[in-house]
Amino acid sequence: MVPNFAATTPIYYVTAKPHLGHAYTTIVTDAVCRWHRLCGDNVHLLTGTDEHGLKVQQYADAAGKTPREFVDEIAPLYADAWKRLDVKYDDFIRTTEERIHKTPANYVEEENYFFRLSRFEQRLLDWYDKHPDAIVPDFRRNEVLGFIKGGLNDFSVSRKSLKWGIPLPWNADHVAYVWFDALANYITAHGYGSDAERFASRWPVDWHFIGKDIIRFHCVYWPAMLMSAGLEPPKGWAVGGFLLVGGEKMSKTTGNVVSPLDLIDEFGVDGFRYYVLADTAYGNDGDFTYEGLTARYNSDLANNLGNLAARVATVVEKKCGGIGPTPRSDSPLAEVAAAAVRDADAAWRAVQPSKALDAAWNLIRATNAHLEQNEPWKMAAGAAVDAVMGDALEALRIVVLLANPALPSTTQEIWRRIGLPGRIEDRRLPSDAAWGGYPGGLTVEKGEPLFPRKKS
Ligand code: ME8
Ligand code: MG
Repeated sequence: MVPNFAATTPIYYVTAKPHLGHAYTTIVTDAVCRWHRLCGDNVHLLTGTDEHGLKVQQYADAAGKTPREFVDEIAPLYADAWKRLDVKYDDFIRTTEERIHKTPANYVEEENYFFRLSRFEQRLLDWYDKHPDAIVPDFRRNEVLGFIKGGLNDFSVSRKSLKWGIPLPWNADHVAYVWFDALANYITAHGYGSDAERFASRWPVDWHFIGKDIIRFHCVYWPAMLMSAGLEPPKGWAVGGFLLVGGEKMSKTTGNVVSPLDLIDEFGVDGFRYYVLADTAYGNDGDFTYEGLTARYNSDLANNLGNLAARVATVVEKKCGGIGPTPRSDSPLAEVAAAAVRDADAAWRAVQPSKALDAAWNLIRATNAHLEQNEPWKMAAGAAVDAVMGDALEALRIVVLLANPALPSTTQEIWRRIGLPGRIEDRRLPSDAAWGGYPGGLTVEKGEPLFPRKKS
């Protein structure tokens, strides 16, 4: 049986084009999904846009457009950005689509169109008690429990003054409160109310990826709404911190809104993805600066990974006739590689991309050190060089498997340059990352630098 793995991003408000923070959450979700795909899971990544409510209506008014025209313009900018950032999503839901209009009426337990959240205090506490690992990082769980223990107030699920929304099925004078139909996307997209079989195979999802700003809606309101409908809460919430820009919150008025698409022109899609995944421990706040991006790109990508790939190809060309030798079974790098695979796997599963990448980079550092110690470029061609270079090629093969969720296209290119056929995405971990998989006898190609150094 192939295990299922389902993850969601928030559905983003379509008030403006996507910025760095939206890209951050989406790339983390994508990378974790990519890891699970490599491990053979049947993965589903749901993303989309949140298009109703007062905020969207106000932005549309300001732009002199109808809400419909406005959201139809902005929503595709999200889908396009995710494609350009190599985000492999399975479904993109828009809350203005027909499939959400089935928001079930049984969510509301009383007249007046309030949701009786207060009734769920104890049930929520009991549920969290039985699911101690449901929220990562742990300190966010304490925040949620504190909030529930502080007492929950009922909340209104309808708005009468607003026209831009989903009319309540039993009273068309009201529209659903935007958070109510927004949260429902997570189940309607998986067939709730329309395809019971599909829904059963996908719900509860493994992770809702969210930012810390929407934790109450997701970790308190939403599980209570699900319980009230007789459904299981999700298996987990992976709560990210915020990326500041130059130490400040991004805002139009400050003029410090960073567009991810501007950065990929200069650093490449993979350079940008790597930076957001590696630079901030998921869960903590991070600080984006252009200098920080440049420094990390130069050190981790140009000097470490890029240099390793280039140097291996150069020495194989000069000393091994351009043909990759086989690795030794008793290589000193074998144990380092095995540890890297174990650590990376544990970290991706715990939603710690920076740790997972550090595990892969440990292997890069060890391999570069192995080359510096042995100085194969000073040796005469023969068995001794072949031994060192076979080990280095094998370590590089394992590195690119481990780094693939962060750097989908550059790892594929290294894979090709060291002579390996097919697509990394069709490999299976952990078995294909076991030491000894590089067959030797393959043509190794140097190619252009993958990560040209930037001036700092
Ligand atoms: O809240 N740093 O949508 P939203 C890191 N529609 N992440 C950031 C960020 C930053 N500076 N800014 C935004 C909504 N994010 C609702 C969600 S879900 C049913 C409805 C990310 O467009 C972060 O993941 O305001 C945050 O939770 C999300 O964008 C909010 O996006
Ligand atoms: Mg917001």
